[in-house]
Amino acid sequence: MFSVKQLVESGCLTSLPQKYVFKNTESDDCMVTELEAIPTIDFSLLTSGNPDERSKVINELGNACQEWGFFMVINHGVPETLRNEMIRATEGFFDLAGEEKRQYTGKKLFDPIRCGTSFNPKVDKVLLWRDYLKVHVHPHFSAPNKPSGFGKVLQEYCKRTREMASELLKGISESLGLEESYINEKMAVESADSHQLLVANMYPPCPQPELSMGLPPHSDHGLLTILMQNGLAGLQVMHNAKWVPVNPLPNSFLVNTGDHMEILTNGKYKSVVHRAVVNNKATRISIGTAHGPPLDTIVSPAAELVTDFVGQFFPAYRGIKYREYLELQQSKSLNGKSCLD
Ligand code: SIN
Ligand code: FE2
Repeated sequence: MFSVKQLVESGCLTSLPQKYVFKNTESDDCMVTELEAIPTIDFSLLTSGNPDERSKVINELGNACQEWGFFMVINHGVPETLRNEMIRATEGFFDLAGEEKRQYTGKKLFDPIRCGTSFNPKVDKVLLWRDYLKVHVHPHFSAPNKPSGFGKVLQEYCKRTREMASELLKGISESLGLEESYINEKMAVESADSHQLLVANMYPPCPQPELSMGLPPHSDHGLLTILMQNGLAGLQVMHNAKWVPVNPLPNSFLVNTGDHMEILTNGKYKSVVHRAVVNNKATRISIGTAHGPPLDTIVSPAAELVTDFVGQFFPAYRGIKYREYLELQQSKSLNGKSCLD
Protein backbone atom coordinates (compact mmCIF):
# COMPACT_ATOMS: atom_id res chain seq x y z
CA MET A 1 0.00 0.00 0.00
CA PHE A 2 1.24 3.47 -0.81
CA SER A 3 1.36 5.52 2.41
CA VAL A 4 2.82 8.60 4.05
CA LYS A 5 4.47 6.30 6.58
CA GLN A 6 6.27 4.47 3.76
CA LEU A 7 7.33 7.79 2.23
CA VAL A 8 8.85 8.92 5.55
CA GLU A 9 10.51 5.57 6.18
CA SER A 10 12.14 5.59 2.73
CA GLY A 11 14.48 8.17 4.31
CA CYS A 12 14.81 10.27 1.16
CA LEU A 13 12.62 13.20 2.15
CA THR A 14 14.28 16.54 2.78
CA SER A 15 11.32 18.74 1.94
CA LEU A 16 7.60 18.31 1.43
CA PRO A 17 6.74 16.83 -2.00
CA GLN A 18 4.71 19.32 -4.05
CA LYS A 19 1.57 17.19 -4.12
CA TYR A 20 1.29 17.53 -0.31
CA VAL A 21 1.54 21.33 -0.27
CA PHE A 22 -1.75 22.51 1.19
CA LYS A 23 -2.78 26.04 0.25
CA ASN A 24 -4.37 27.68 3.22
CA THR A 25 -7.18 29.83 1.91
CA GLU A 26 -8.14 31.32 5.23
CA SER A 27 -7.93 34.94 6.19
CA ASP A 28 -5.97 36.18 9.20
CA ASP A 29 -9.26 36.33 11.09
CA CYS A 30 -9.06 32.56 11.40
CA MET A 31 -5.66 32.62 13.11
CA VAL A 32 -5.07 30.14 15.88
CA THR A 33 -5.92 31.34 19.36
CA GLU A 34 -4.40 29.75 22.46
CA LEU A 35 -6.66 31.59 24.85
CA GLU A 36 -9.70 29.37 24.98
CA ALA A 37 -10.20 25.84 26.17
CA ILE A 38 -13.03 23.51 25.23
CA PRO A 39 -15.49 22.60 28.01
CA THR A 40 -14.92 19.59 30.27
CA ILE A 41 -17.74 17.19 31.14
CA ASP A 42 -17.45 14.92 34.17
CA PHE A 43 -19.13 11.76 32.86
CA SER A 44 -19.37 10.17 36.32
CA LEU A 45 -21.88 12.86 37.35
CA LEU A 46 -24.24 11.75 34.58
CA THR A 47 -24.40 8.27 36.00
CA SER A 48 -23.88 8.86 39.74
CA GLY A 49 -27.58 8.73 40.60
CA ASN A 50 -27.47 12.16 42.27
CA PRO A 51 -30.24 14.25 40.56
CA ASP A 52 -28.68 17.64 41.41
CA GLU A 53 -25.30 16.65 40.02
CA ARG A 54 -26.96 15.16 36.96
CA SER A 55 -28.99 18.25 36.17
CA LYS A 56 -25.89 20.44 36.62
CA VAL A 57 -23.85 18.35 34.20
CA ILE A 58 -26.75 18.17 31.71
CA ASN A 59 -26.82 21.92 31.74
CA GLU A 60 -23.06 21.99 31.06
CA LEU A 61 -23.50 19.42 28.29
CA GLY A 62 -26.19 21.53 26.63
CA ASN A 63 -24.01 24.64 26.79
CA ALA A 64 -21.01 22.73 25.41
CA CYS A 65 -23.08 21.38 22.49
CA GLN A 66 -24.60 24.74 21.72
CA GLU A 67 -21.54 26.94 22.11
CA TRP A 68 -18.73 24.63 21.02
CA GLY A 69 -20.02 21.39 19.51
CA PHE A 70 -16.95 19.88 21.21
CA PHE A 71 -16.18 18.84 24.76
CA MET A 72 -13.68 16.78 26.73
CA VAL A 73 -15.01 13.87 28.78
CA ILE A 74 -13.29 12.89 32.03
CA ASN A 75 -14.10 10.17 34.60
CA HIS A 76 -15.65 8.06 31.84
CA GLY A 77 -14.82 4.68 33.31
CA VAL A 78 -13.08 3.27 30.21
CA PRO A 79 -9.91 1.64 31.61
CA GLU A 80 -6.64 3.32 30.71
CA THR A 81 -5.19 -0.12 29.96
CA LEU A 82 -7.85 -0.67 27.26
CA ARG A 83 -7.12 2.73 25.72
CA ASN A 84 -3.38 1.99 25.71
CA GLU A 85 -3.91 -1.46 24.22
CA MET A 86 -6.06 0.09 21.52
CA ILE A 87 -3.35 2.61 20.62
CA ARG A 88 -0.66 -0.11 20.64
CA ALA A 89 -2.73 -2.44 18.45
CA THR A 90 -3.42 0.40 16.01
CA GLU A 91 0.31 1.19 15.80
CA GLY A 92 0.88 -2.51 15.25
CA PHE A 93 -1.55 -2.46 12.33
CA PHE A 94 0.12 0.52 10.66
CA ASP A 95 3.50 -1.16 11.21
CA LEU A 96 2.50 -4.28 9.24
CA ALA A 97 4.31 -4.81 5.96
CA GLY A 98 2.57 -3.38 2.88
CA GLU A 99 1.93 -6.95 1.71
CA GLU A 100 -0.14 -7.70 4.80
CA LYS A 101 -2.25 -4.58 4.45
CA ARG A 102 -2.88 -5.09 0.75
CA GLN A 103 -6.10 -7.04 1.33
CA TYR A 104 -7.60 -3.90 2.94
CA THR A 105 -6.50 -1.33 0.36
CA GLY A 106 -8.53 -0.03 -2.58
CA LYS A 107 -11.73 -0.98 -0.80
CA LYS A 108 -15.06 0.82 -1.05
CA LEU A 109 -17.02 2.79 1.55
CA PHE A 110 -19.11 -0.10 2.89
CA ASP A 111 -16.43 -2.79 2.69
CA PRO A 112 -15.90 -3.87 6.30
CA ILE A 113 -12.23 -2.88 6.56
CA ARG A 114 -10.20 -0.51 4.48
CA CYS A 115 -6.94 1.30 4.84
CA GLY A 116 -5.35 3.96 2.71
CA THR A 117 -3.88 7.41 2.62
CA SER A 118 -5.19 11.01 2.32
CA PHE A 119 -9.06 11.06 2.23
CA ASN A 120 -10.09 10.13 -1.28
CA PRO A 121 -6.89 10.17 -3.38
CA LYS A 122 -8.95 9.75 -6.58
CA VAL A 123 -10.40 13.25 -6.18
CA ASP A 124 -8.07 14.97 -3.67
CA LYS A 125 -6.22 17.76 -5.47
CA VAL A 126 -3.71 17.94 -2.63
CA LEU A 127 -2.75 14.83 -0.69
CA LEU A 128 -3.14 14.84 3.07
CA TRP A 129 -0.31 13.93 5.44
CA ARG A 130 -2.32 11.05 6.85
CA ASP A 131 -2.75 7.29 6.61
CA TYR A 132 -5.92 5.68 7.87
CA LEU A 133 -7.67 2.49 8.86
CA LYS A 134 -11.49 2.42 8.79
CA VAL A 135 -13.50 -0.46 10.22
CA HIS A 136 -17.27 -0.88 10.31
CA VAL A 137 -17.64 -2.30 13.80
CA HIS A 138 -21.45 -2.26 14.22
CA PRO A 139 -23.96 -3.76 13.43
CA HIS A 140 -21.53 -6.33 11.97
CA PHE A 141 -18.23 -6.46 13.75
CA SER A 142 -15.10 -6.79 11.64
CA ALA A 143 -11.45 -6.55 12.56
CA PRO A 144 -8.13 -6.92 10.76
CA ASN A 145 -6.60 -10.32 11.54
CA LYS A 146 -3.26 -8.73 12.50
CA PRO A 147 -1.62 -7.75 14.77
CA SER A 148 -2.56 -10.66 16.96
CA GLY A 149 -5.22 -9.77 19.53
CA PHE A 150 -6.35 -6.65 17.64
CA GLY A 151 -9.91 -7.98 17.18
CA LYS A 152 -10.46 -8.58 20.89
CA VAL A 153 -9.22 -5.12 21.90
CA LEU A 154 -11.14 -3.44 19.11
CA GLN A 155 -14.38 -5.18 20.03
CA GLU A 156 -14.13 -4.21 23.68
CA TYR A 157 -13.10 -0.63 22.86
CA CYS A 158 -16.03 -0.21 20.46
CA LYS A 159 -18.50 -1.66 22.95
CA ARG A 160 -17.31 0.75 25.65
CA THR A 161 -17.48 3.78 23.35
CA ARG A 162 -20.99 2.75 22.20
CA GLU A 163 -22.10 2.63 25.82
CA MET A 164 -20.57 6.04 26.43
CA ALA A 165 -22.32 7.44 23.35
CA SER A 166 -25.76 6.25 24.52
CA GLU A 167 -25.22 7.69 27.99
CA LEU A 168 -24.15 11.03 26.51
CA LEU A 169 -27.13 10.99 24.14
CA LYS A 170 -29.45 10.57 27.11
CA GLY A 171 -27.94 13.68 28.70
CA ILE A 172 -28.05 15.56 25.39
CA SER A 173 -31.75 14.65 24.93
CA GLU A 174 -32.52 16.03 28.37
CA SER A 175 -30.50 19.16 27.68
CA LEU A 176 -32.90 19.79 24.77
CA GLY A 177 -35.91 19.46 27.07
CA LEU A 178 -36.78 16.01 25.69
CA GLU A 179 -37.21 12.63 27.41
CA GLU A 180 -33.80 11.10 28.21
CA SER A 181 -34.48 8.20 25.82
CA TYR A 182 -35.57 10.48 22.95
CA ILE A 183 -32.50 10.44 20.68
CA ASN A 184 -31.55 6.84 21.49
CA GLU A 185 -35.05 5.68 20.56
CA LYS A 186 -35.70 7.91 17.57
CA MET A 187 -32.30 7.10 16.07
CA ALA A 188 -32.32 3.46 17.26
CA VAL A 189 -28.85 4.03 18.68
CA GLU A 190 -29.09 1.15 21.15
CA SER A 191 -30.59 -1.24 18.58
CA ALA A 192 -28.77 -4.17 17.05
CA ASP A 193 -28.63 -2.25 13.73
CA SER A 194 -27.12 1.07 14.78
CA HIS A 195 -24.03 2.06 12.88
CA GLN A 196 -20.56 2.59 14.32
CA LEU A 197 -17.46 3.28 12.28
CA LEU A 198 -13.96 3.31 13.71
CA VAL A 199 -11.44 5.59 12.02
CA ALA A 200 -7.79 5.42 13.08
CA ASN A 201 -5.50 8.15 11.76
CA MET A 202 -1.72 8.09 11.63
CA TYR A 203 0.19 11.31 11.01
CA PRO A 204 3.93 10.58 10.68
CA PRO A 205 6.48 13.37 11.34
CA CYS A 206 6.36 15.82 8.44
CA PRO A 207 9.42 17.68 7.10
CA GLN A 208 7.44 20.94 6.64
CA PRO A 209 4.37 20.72 8.84
CA GLU A 210 3.38 24.36 8.29
CA LEU A 211 2.88 23.60 4.57
CA SER A 212 0.83 20.44 4.89
CA MET A 213 -2.37 19.22 6.52
CA GLY A 214 -3.35 15.99 8.28
CA LEU A 215 -7.09 16.47 7.91
CA PRO A 216 -8.43 19.69 6.37
CA PRO A 217 -11.42 21.55 7.86
CA HIS A 218 -14.44 19.26 7.91
CA SER A 219 -17.37 18.23 10.05
CA ASP A 220 -18.17 14.63 10.97
CA HIS A 221 -21.15 12.59 9.88
CA GLY A 222 -23.23 10.85 12.55
CA LEU A 223 -24.65 11.94 15.88
CA LEU A 224 -21.48 11.92 17.97
CA THR A 225 -17.78 11.23 17.45
CA ILE A 226 -15.69 9.97 20.37
CA LEU A 227 -11.97 10.55 19.86
CA MET A 228 -8.75 9.72 21.68
CA GLN A 229 -5.14 10.29 20.71
CA ASN A 230 -1.68 9.03 21.64
CA GLY A 231 -0.79 12.05 23.78
CA LEU A 232 0.26 14.32 20.91
CA ALA A 233 -1.78 17.41 20.09
CA GLY A 234 -2.89 18.29 16.56
CA LEU A 235 -6.65 18.74 16.64
CA GLN A 236 -7.98 22.29 16.19
CA VAL A 237 -11.60 23.32 16.53
CA MET A 238 -13.29 26.31 14.87
CA HIS A 239 -14.79 28.50 17.57
CA ASN A 240 -15.92 32.11 17.14
CA ALA A 241 -14.20 32.19 13.73
CA LYS A 242 -10.81 31.16 15.23
CA TRP A 243 -8.94 27.86 15.32
CA VAL A 244 -8.61 26.68 18.91
CA PRO A 245 -5.92 24.02 19.52
CA VAL A 246 -7.19 21.19 21.70
CA ASN A 247 -4.90 19.76 24.36
CA PRO A 248 -6.95 17.07 26.06
CA LEU A 249 -6.17 15.96 29.61
CA PRO A 250 -4.44 12.56 29.84
CA ASN A 251 -6.94 9.70 29.77
CA SER A 252 -9.80 11.89 28.52
CA PHE A 253 -11.95 11.55 25.40
CA LEU A 254 -12.91 14.32 23.02
CA VAL A 255 -16.49 14.28 21.86
CA ASN A 256 -18.12 16.29 19.12
CA THR A 257 -21.62 16.58 17.75
CA GLY A 258 -21.91 15.42 14.15
CA ASP A 259 -23.90 16.44 11.07
CA HIS A 260 -26.84 14.20 12.00
CA MET A 261 -27.11 15.82 15.42
CA GLU A 262 -27.29 19.16 13.63
CA ILE A 263 -30.06 17.85 11.35
CA LEU A 264 -31.98 16.15 14.18
CA THR A 265 -31.87 19.25 16.41
CA ASN A 266 -32.81 21.47 13.45
CA GLY A 267 -29.52 23.35 13.82
CA LYS A 268 -29.63 23.93 17.58
CA TYR A 269 -26.52 21.79 18.13
CA LYS A 270 -24.21 22.45 15.22
CA SER A 271 -21.68 20.06 13.77
CA VAL A 272 -18.51 22.05 14.23
CA VAL A 273 -15.68 22.28 11.73
CA HIS A 274 -12.32 20.94 12.91
CA ARG A 275 -8.97 19.95 11.38
CA ALA A 276 -5.81 18.04 12.27
CA VAL A 277 -2.44 19.73 11.83
CA VAL A 278 0.82 17.77 11.75
CA ASN A 279 4.22 18.14 13.41
CA ASN A 280 7.84 17.37 12.55
CA LYS A 281 8.77 15.53 15.77
CA ALA A 282 6.75 12.39 16.31
CA THR A 283 4.00 10.22 14.88
CA ARG A 284 0.56 11.23 16.08
CA ILE A 285 -2.26 8.70 16.22
CA SER A 286 -5.91 9.54 16.75
CA ILE A 287 -8.76 7.05 16.97
CA GLY A 288 -12.34 8.15 16.48
CA THR A 289 -15.61 6.26 16.56
CA ALA A 290 -18.60 7.78 14.74
CA HIS A 291 -21.95 6.83 16.25
CA GLY A 292 -25.02 6.94 14.06
CA PRO A 293 -28.43 5.38 13.46
CA PRO A 294 -28.98 2.27 11.31
CA LEU A 295 -27.83 2.96 7.74
CA ASP A 296 -31.36 2.98 6.31
CA THR A 297 -32.70 5.54 8.77
CA ILE A 298 -33.88 8.79 7.25
CA VAL A 299 -32.63 11.54 9.53
CA SER A 300 -34.69 14.72 9.56
CA PRO A 301 -35.35 17.45 12.13
CA ALA A 302 -37.25 16.26 15.20
CA ALA A 303 -40.80 17.65 15.18
CA GLU A 304 -40.44 18.56 18.87
CA LEU A 305 -37.56 20.89 18.02
CA VAL A 306 -39.07 22.69 15.05
CA THR A 307 -42.62 23.33 16.18
CA ASP A 308 -43.13 26.85 17.40
CA PHE A 309 -45.83 27.97 19.80
CA VAL A 310 -48.51 28.20 17.11
CA GLY A 311 -47.74 24.74 15.86
CA GLN A 312 -45.93 25.80 12.69
CA PHE A 313 -43.31 23.40 11.41
CA PHE A 314 -40.05 24.96 10.18
CA PRO A 315 -37.52 22.26 9.33
CA ALA A 316 -34.23 23.78 8.23
CA TYR A 317 -32.90 20.54 6.70
CA ARG A 318 -34.40 17.96 4.42
CA GLY A 319 -34.37 14.34 5.50
CA ILE A 320 -31.75 12.04 4.01
CA LYS A 321 -30.90 8.39 4.50
CA TYR A 322 -27.81 7.97 6.65
CA ARG A 323 -26.32 5.59 4.07
CA GLU A 324 -26.79 8.10 1.23
CA TYR A 325 -25.25 10.87 3.28
CA LEU A 326 -22.14 8.77 3.89
CA GLU A 327 -21.89 8.00 0.16
CA LEU A 328 -22.21 11.66 -0.70
CA GLN A 329 -19.52 12.67 1.79
CA GLN A 330 -17.12 9.97 0.58
CA SER A 331 -17.53 10.90 -3.08
CA LYS A 332 -16.04 14.35 -2.53
CA SER A 333 -12.77 15.73 -1.26
CA LEU A 334 -12.77 16.45 2.43
CA ASN A 335 -12.50 20.19 2.54
CA GLY A 336 -14.62 22.74 4.31
CA LYS A 337 -18.00 21.96 5.78
CA SER A 338 -19.25 18.52 4.75
CA CYS A 339 -22.42 17.74 2.83
CA LEU A 340 -24.66 19.79 5.12
CA ASP A 341 -23.89 22.81 2.96
C1 SIN B 1 -10.93 13.62 12.90
O1 SIN B 1 -11.32 14.75 12.69
O2 SIN B 1 -11.61 12.68 12.54
C2 SIN B 1 -9.62 13.33 13.60
C3 SIN B 1 -8.96 14.54 14.10
C4 SIN B 1 -7.67 14.22 14.84
O3 SIN B 1 -6.80 13.54 14.32
O4 SIN B 1 -7.55 14.69 15.97
FE1 FE2 C 1 -13.40 14.70 12.15
